Amino acid sequence: MLETPRLILRPALIKDAENLYRLNSDPEVMRYTGDKKFNSPFEARNLIQERIIPQYTQHRMGRFMAFLKDGTFIGWCGLKYFPETGEVDLGYRLIQHFWGMGYATEAGECCIDYGFKELKLNRIIAKAMPENIASIKVMQKLGMTFRGYLRDPTDLQSFIVYDIFNSEKKP
Ligand SMILES: CC(C)(COP(=O)(O)OP(=O)(O)OC[C@H]1O[C@@H](n2cnc3c(N)ncnc32)[C@H](O)[C@@H]1OP(=O)(O)O)[C@@H](O)C(=O)NCCC(=O)NCCS
Repeated sequence: MLETPRLILRPALIKDAENLYRLNSDPEVMRYTGDKKFNSPFEARNLIQERIIPQYTQHRMGRFMAFLKDGTFIGWCGLKYFPETGEVDLGYRLIQHFWGMGYATEAGECCIDYGFKELKLNRIIAKAMPENIASIKVMQKLGMTFRGYLRDPTDLQSFIVYDIFNSEKKP
């Protein structure tokens, strides 16, 4: 479990399926993610069980569920390991009601600290569609550096890539 001044970040549990289903049901939230909405809470449950939880056990990292201190679910933020490239990616997704309050930056900062201090990672990347200004702004506020564009060969979607190195992180 990770804690910031306003948030609790914790690994996903099966009981979070309903919250994830609700989060992904908002087309505005999904607009720039490239992900499809779940057809049912059961699909969200499968994702937690088959994709999210194994990241914790295999790589000591993963997308963490984010809550206000009063227990209100606001979305998720966390690191994900991509075995194909060996890269670790920071991601975030919040319920629309909680946008624009600095929560993604606060949660992202905490996850980057965890990656560098606890996991001793060398580099963390973040990717966004070029139209996703809010996400790119978060990367910049986190002190990440623009590295270029990446084109997904399967759907030809372009992504903008930022990164940060352990050595660049202020203590
Ligand atoms: C991306 C996302 C997580 C950002 O969360 P957030 O908590 O609102 O982010 P923060 O408040 O920490 O910072 C957002 C910044 O972007 C700015 N911003 C948002 N929309 C903007 C726009 N259209 N143009 C310019 N700036 C914009 C905000 O003003 C804020 O900057 P500021 O602190 O300088 O005012 C949230 O918008 C979200 O969940 N989006 C849907 C899912 C998604 O796209 N995830 C990322 C996929 S790569």
